Amino acid sequence: MTLTDEKICTDLALGASQYHGAVSPPIFQTSLFTFKSFESFTESQKQEREKYVYSRGVNPTVHLLEKKLAQLERGEQCKCFGSGMGAISAVFLSLLQSGDHVLFVNNIYGPTSQLLKHLEKFNIEHDVVDHNMKNVESAIKDNTKIIYVESPGTMLMKFVDLKALATLAKSRGIITAIDNTWATPLYQKPIELGIDLSIHSLTKYLGGHSDVVGGAVIGSHELIDTIFEYGHQLNGSVLGPFDAYLILRGLRTLPVRMAQHQANVSKVIEYLKQQEDVTAIHHPYVESGEMQTIVNSQMLGYSGLLSFELRQAHFEGVSKFIDALRLFKIGVSWGGFESLVNSPIKNDNEAQLKEQGIPLGLIRLSIGLEGAEAQIADLDQAFRKIKA
Ligand SMILES: Cc1ncc(COP(=O)(O)O)c(C=O)c1O
Repeated sequence: MTLTDEKICTDLALGASQYHGAVSPPIFQTSLFTFKSFESFTESQKQEREKYVYSRGVNPTVHLLEKKLAQLERGEQCKCFGSGMGAISAVFLSLLQSGDHVLFVNNIYGPTSQLLKHLEKFNIEHDVVDHNMKNVESAIKDNTKIIYVESPGTMLMKFVDLKALATLAKSRGIITAIDNTWATPLYQKPIELGIDLSIHSLTKYLGGHSDVVGGAVIGSHELIDTIFEYGHQLNGSVLGPFDAYLILRGLRTLPVRMAQHQANVSKVIEYLKQQEDVTAIHHPYVESGEMQTIVNSQMLGYSGLLSFELRQAHFEGVSKFIDALRLFKIGVSWGGFESLVNSPIKNDNEAQLKEQGIPLGLIRLSIGLEGAEAQIADLDQAFRKIKA
């Protein structure tokens, strides 16, 4: 029987029958596991990917989260990490070797790009292309090992035809990986579209309460076993049992939270469309024509991260607007219960942003759960204040 996403998120799994009827899973806050005999110990050590031996390998609380994430993504296996970057590094460190090439498609999260810059010293090269499939095809090299994509990206929310990308990569024997954090496994299932690896920063919507940092990679047994062996065991970016518990707790409300983020973001966007100081809005909700067809064919819903361009496109203009906000708090990250505001502009990076094609007036909002009425009221008083 195929479980619904709601059932996977709320299923007790461990728990009830085994642990005194508890509806909440135990937190196995232990670094190691002991054995009745030396023989059973040595046998378990041979199978550290499945057996509980040491919590840098497999821990029951973390394992429960991994099973749920694999089910949600419709993948065979999942491995969790101490952060989203831990998961991303594990993919590259496990699957690449000197002489390989990585192709980035679309806008990529800054630290992921920095990681690939760092890997240049190990003779691993990379290129960046936009979402156009013809450009992707001509950027593939003989040594391209991984095509890595963000769709939507998290600055300009541009997206990529994932099915077309997966088909192209498969025809060339290239591994595909996506950072699926924006959409969550509820609203986009890349593995069903043919992508090999789906990666998450659990720090965002999956945790959902801005109180935990974590990451995950989901894919085939073969790829995840390799990633476990090198990128997890040896790199050691491990998710702790208590953090796994917090994310399991977050998962229980993921479907209702995402529905609310989606309802709020569409109302906020409708409001932003009416503002004369907003020159553009970036979010799949505003796409039309061919782009809308692609969005509809691969996305099951929208999350609450959007960006828009302020007419006053300079550091002073952006600062004035952001400082006028009250409900939206200034801070990094996104995907939590609280509304946040951020912008890539600083008082000394205008030239750099122009070079990267990032509009100077770009403001990013993470639409939280406070309710669209309160969010719009806050934006409205800020727009009025910058006019005054
Ligand atoms: C799109 C995206 N991917 C990955 C990460 C990294 O996740 P973490 O901060 O959990 O390492 C972030 C963090 O902001 C992100 O925005």
